[in-house]
Amino acid sequence: MKTKSFSKNGIIVAPSILAADFGNLTKEIARAQKAGADWIHIDVMDGHFVSNLTIGAPVVKSISGKTSLFIDSHLMISNPGKYAGDFAAAGSGMITIHVEAVRGLRRVIGRIKALGVGAGVSIKPKTPASAVFDVLDIADMVLVMTVEPGFGGQSFMPGMLAKIEKIRRRFKGYIQVDGGINAETARLARAAGANVLVAGTYLFSARDMRSAVQSLR
Ligand code: DX5
Ligand code: ZN
Repeated sequence: MKTKSFSKNGIIVAPSILAADFGNLTKEIARAQKAGADWIHIDVMDGHFVSNLTIGAPVVKSISGKTSLFIDSHLMISNPGKYAGDFAAAGSGMITIHVEAVRGLRRVIGRIKALGVGAGVSIKPKTPASAVFDVLDIADMVLVMTVEPGFGGQSFMPGMLAKIEKIRRRFKGYIQVDGGINAETARLARAAGANVLVAGTYLFSARDMRSAVQSLR
């Protein structure tokens, strides 16, 4: 299976292509790579788990064939276990599922890891940190959503910082934040223990993406 390895240690910057120009994805991803991005974050939405529709595994496959960046697939879909194999085969290096979307969380994480890719677990703003405590021994990443999932361009919810701290006290792996991340909110998230920063609007609308990437680290 074609899987790009995890990035270097330290802060990982993962531009979310949700804010990119979908008509020029290859160029947009090359632009992010040139600007110093570590991962590329792909928001997969099914119009059911969240009320928006985006892209599926065929697009992930096209993207992964055109970039050497690590592919981070954020599945905001119901029944993610059913589709994990497709996203792994498409070149995802990390597959993140929502705890709210599955029954038998441990089993689904096991299934993702058996595909040879990293497994992430995500919690929506109203879901407590404790919802992931039972799986911290097997998860590679915890994604603490800092906005209600579904749309880009929303404001960071500072109330999520305490959840990041609670998880960081028990977990040495990746803690990712996603939603409303800019230089200022990234600083707060990093101080709370996050080390993977997803940003869509802030990076893709920046006049100088390279200095915007640097401002997140
Ligand atoms: C929201 C997505 C995010 C979103 C972030 O459901 O998971 O990845 O694209 O966008 P910004 O950075 O614009 O808040
Ligand atoms: Zn996302």
